[in-house]
Formats: sequence, C-alpha cells, structure tokens
Amino acid sequence: MMRIAVLRETADAERRVAATPETVKKLIALGATVAVEDGAGDGANIADSAFAEAGASVAGREATIAGSGLILGVQGPDMSGLPGVKSGAMLVAILSPFGRREAVNTYAASGLTTMAMELMPRITRAQSMDVLSSQSNLSGYKAVIDAAEAYGRAFPMMMTAAGTISAARVFVMGVGVAGLQAIATARRLGALVGATDVRAATKEQIESLGAKAIFVEAVKGIEGEGSGGYATEMSDEYKAAQAALVSSHIAKQDIVITTALIPGRPAPRLVSDAQIATMRAGSVIVDLAVESGGNVEGSVPGESPVVHGVTIIGHRNVPSRMAADASALYARNLYNFIAAFWDKDAGGLKFPEDDEIVKGVTLTRGGAVVHERLVA
Ligand code: NAI
Repeated sequence: MMRIAVLRETADAERRVAATPETVKKLIALGATVAVEDGAGDGANIADSAFAEAGASVAGREATIAGSGLILGVQGPDMSGLPGVKSGAMLVAILSPFGRREAVNTYAASGLTTMAMELMPRITRAQSMDVLSSQSNLSGYKAVIDAAEAYGRAFPMMMTAAGTISAARVFVMGVGVAGLQAIATARRLGALVGATDVRAATKEQIESLGAKAIFVEAVKGIEGEGSGGYATEMSDEYKAAQAALVSSHIAKQDIVITTALIPGRPAPRLVSDAQIATMRAGSVIVDLAVESGGNVEGSVPGESPVVHGVTIIGHRNVPSRMAADASALYARNLYNFIAAFWDKDAGGLKFPEDDEIVKGVTLTRGGAVVHERLVA
C-alpha cells in the first residue's frame, strides 16, 4: 500500500497546502495511506484535527516522510527539507526546475522521481490537473480586489442624492486565464472594462465578457499564438504599434491589470514610466507578472511603490493570498493527477514513460535528469 506524505510549506509567505481533508479522503479511497506534517494546513485554515478526522496520521516532518513513496508539496523542498526520504520515492510539487537546476541535480543524485506540476501539458485530458490555470484564475480575481482596495474611488457608477460617481475604467493587458477572470471580476464590480492581448483568439472571449477589445490592427502577419495556446515574442514593428495603442488608451484608465507572460522568456514590457506619468493621480496598476520580470516599468516584487501618483502593486505569490481556495483547487489538481495514474491492482502509481503527461512533467527518474528541456 502506498504511503503519501503531505508536507508543511517552508518557503517564505507560502500559506498554501498540497492536500485538504477532502483530497485526503479521496486518496485513502484509492487505497493509499496518508501522513500529514503537523501545521501543514495552518496557513489555509485547516486544522491538524481536520486532517486526522479525514483519516490521515499527523506527525512531525521526519515521521511524515519515513516510508512514504509519494511526497506532495506546493513549492518543492530541497533535499535538506526531505530528511530520511527513501531512494525511489516520488516528489510532486511546483518545482521551478529552470531556476533551481542545482536542486534538480540533487533530486536525481538521491534517486528521487520528481514531477513539476507547472509543466503539465495544455491538453484536454490534463485540464483538471492544470495548476497554472487553477492558481491563475484566483490571481486574476485577487488582482481586481487588490486594485479596488488601493483605489480611492468606487468601481460602479453610483447615482446618489449628492450627485453621480462615474464608473471606474479598467484595462486588462494579457487575456489568458488570469486576465479573463480579472475582466469578469471587474465587470461584476461595475467597472467599464477594456482588454488587449497578442493572441487574436482572445478578442471574442473579451467581447463575450462584456468588455471592449483593444487590439493592434495595423501590423500585418501577426498571430501571436505559439504552441500549446501560449503567446510568442512579437516583432519590433508590432511592439511599436502596441506601445502607441497603449499610450493613447492608458491615460484615460483608472486601473490597469497586467498578466502577460511568454513561456521561457522574461515577461514582455507593456507599460513604460512615461505612460504611467499620463495617468490620473490615484490610479492603480497591478502587475501580476512582477515575479517574471514585470510588465510594468517600476514594479517591484513584494512592494507597492507610488510613481507619478499611481500605485504599482507587485504582490509576490498572489494565489497564496487566497490560501484556502488556492489550496482546495491545487489539492484537487494533484488528486486528479494521482487518480489518473493509480493502478488499483498494484495499490500504487504507475507512470507509463511514453505518456504525454508523464513526459511533460517528469524532471528526474532512475538517478538521472530526464526532462527534455533540462537535458541539453
Ligand atoms: P500566460 O499566463 O502564459 O499569459 C497570459 C496572457 O498574456 C496570454 O493570453 C498571452 O497571450 C498574453 N500575452 C503575452 N505577451 C503579450 C503581449 N506582448 N501583449 C499582450 N498580451 C500578451 O497564459 P495562460 O493564462 O497560461 O493561457 C495561455 C493559453 O492556454 C490560453 O489560450 C488558454 O486558454 C490556454 N489554456 C489551455 C488549457 C488546456 O487546454 N488544458 C488550460 C489552461 C489554459
């Protein structure tokens, strides 16, 4: 019978947890035993007793890891955070392998099989396991709430006896999972919303949410969509046209939310200091790409500087700021992944090496680094 360990997160300001009482019950129903490190759910308002009631054993880190064949985390610990882990055990978490190459090498040297959930392929079969989607969706929502809090005015139009307050104007740049949720949330709060992206396919999505699509039309031959539905780096001609479009639009906006990312590259720069200077004092920008280099000039990870009277919010790890929901969705992503590869007869996991999902997420196996993007 496979024993599954759920670790307490140790990274700075990480409040999420990789399992909930709901997923603990489901893992046990599959045929596993589950051990949870004490305090693992504290940041997400899940008490040790709730995990115990769901059927997990609760203990310190070493006792939790001892004998476990599968270790679940949100952000993966280094080997120093895995005391007594057995060779051949599996570690499944958001492992950030490209920025943690040394850690990946030590996982391999220690005989761990490691899987990075954020590398899940964007295919229909894997949608319920897609942690980037589940977490980005919450980030898009929270970005609007954070903006509304910092904004000294109301979002909806209000007609009162003392006069009328006009609706806030919100501009969403980058309409992936986070951007779509930001549009929907800002609309629900009564704002007038516009949005832009490089992928032409998003135009219809923007309009169907009741927002205005603001697109570069003049530059021919752009598609903006690369593999797996992700964006590609744009031509210089496109970038210049986009900058001009943003310049003409941004001065009239009260709130700007940027979410643009390009896989494997720094985030594209979308808003310049000169453009910020044209915005009305008291306006708010939220840069959700701040940890990937930032879409906004002057944004700082973990800080919210005021530049030209405009607050530029740059929270790190936004999903962790909604730890209860983020954990619930992340834990279900993990459960769906485990359930898809659970072998009932063997009472454990079986990962066919030629499976697209397995190939997509596996970093190390059999003592070696195996992921194609890590093996030069
Ligand atoms: P992302 O987080 O990589 O990027 C956010 C957005 O920024 C994207 O829409 C991208 O086109 C845009 N962007 C990049 N450069 C830009 C620029 N210079 N100016 C303006 N916008 C720019 O994207 P996310 O949220 O991961 O979604 C990417 C795609 O994957 C979407 O089409 C989504 O529908 C699809 N998807 C598919 C899934 C599946 O089939 N399993 C699951 C989740 C998403």
